Amino acid sequence: SVINVILSGGVGSRLWPLSRKSRPKQYLPIFDGKTLFQKTALRNSAFCDSVLVVGNIDNYQLSRKDLQEAGIQSYQEIIEACPRNTAAAIAFAAFACNPEDVLFVTPSDHLIESEKSYKKSVERAIALAKDGFIVTFGLKPSKPETGFGYIEADGEEVKSFREKPDLVTAEEFIQKGNFYWNSGMFCFQAGVFLQELKKLEPSVYETSYTTYQKAEEGKLNEELSMKIPSISVDYAVMEKTDKIKVVPSAFDWSDMGSFEAIYEYNQAQGYTIDSNGNMVIGSELHTEFVGMSNSILICTADAILVLNKEKAQDVKKVYERLEKEK
Ligand code: GDD
Ligand code: MG
Repeated sequence: SVINVILSGGVGSRLWPLSRKSRPKQYLPIFDGKTLFQKTALRNSAFCDSVLVVGNIDNYQLSRKDLQEAGIQSYQEIIEACPRNTAAAIAFAAFACNPEDVLFVTPSDHLIESEKSYKKSVERAIALAKDGFIVTFGLKPSKPETGFGYIEADGEEVKSFREKPDLVTAEEFIQKGNFYWNSGMFCFQAGVFLQELKKLEPSVYETSYTTYQKAEEGKLNEELSMKIPSISVDYAVMEKTDKIKVVPSAFDWSDMGSFEAIYEYNQAQGYTIDSNGNMVIGSELHTEFVGMSNSILICTADAILVLNKEKAQDVKKVYERLEKEK
C-alpha cells in the first residue's frame, strides 16, 4: 500500500512568536481556518491508503486533534522522545511498514497549490518508487536560496544532490539552469530506503533500529534515541544514493518557514495594509505604519514582533536568545 508519512518535528523558530514550542507553526489555523498539518494530510489522502505521523512527545496530541478534525480516522503514529533529525525519523517510519510499502514522505509545514499538477507529479513518483527508486521532487528555483537542497538533473536522472549550498554555489547552480530545488518530499519503498540507509549510514540505521525495537506503545525511549547521530536524510541518503530520481514538478510550493514566505503568500492573496507594503499578522486592531515599508507586525496574546521582511531569517536568532535566557 501507499502510506503518507508526515514528519512533524520542528519548532518553527523563525516564526516566533506565532510559532511556539507548545504550538509549532504547522498547527496554527492560519490558512483559511485550517492548519498546514491538516492541509498536508487532506491533500495526500487522494493518493495514500493511510497516514503515519512521526512526531514527538510535545506535539502528538496536536496531530491527533488535527487529524480528527479533518475527518481522518485511521492513522498510525510514532512518538519521538526527542528530535534526532529526518534520517532517523524516516527510518522509524520504514521500520513500522512492510518492505514493499511505498512511503510518501512529506513535511507538515509546506503550502502547496495547483492540485492537478501536484497529482501528476505524485503519481509519477509512486510509479518510480514501485520500480525501486528513491524519488525526489524538483521545483524550479526562483532565487539562490541557501536553505534548500539542490538537484542537478537531466530529465528524471539525478547527476548530483547538493544540500544547502553556500550563496556563491547556489548562484552558480541557478546560472547553470539544470538545477532544481528539492521540495523536501520523498517517495520510495520502505525496504529500499532502509537498504540504502544501512549501506550509507550504518550507525544511523543500527541505532534507529534498536530505538524502534524498544518502543513502548509507539513511544520511543529517550536514552536510546540520544545515541542516534543527528543527520538529515538529505545528507545521509540523498547526496549519496545512486537509486535517486527526480520528478521535475510545476506545482506552486512554498516552505512556510519564515515571515517572508507568509508575507509573500498573503501579498499574492492581495493582503497588505498600505501602499508601502506593510502587513499585520494576528491582529484586527487598526494599525498605521509611518515612514516604514515592507514591514511586518506580528501580534500574539503575549508578544509583539516588528520586522523588516528582508530580515525574516533573523527571527530565529531572537528565538534562540530567548531560549537561552529562560
Ligand atoms: N519527526 C521528526 N523528527 N520530524 C522532523 C525532525 C525530527 O527529528 N527534524 C525535522 N523534522 C521535520 C520538520 O518538521 C519538517 O517538516 C521536515 O522534517 C523537514 O525538516 P526541516 O528542518 O524543515 O528541513 P529543511 O527545511 O531545513 O530542509 C529540507 O526541506 C527543504 C525544503 O523545504 C531539505 O529536504 C531540503 O533539501 C529541502 O530543500
Ligand atoms: Mg523546512
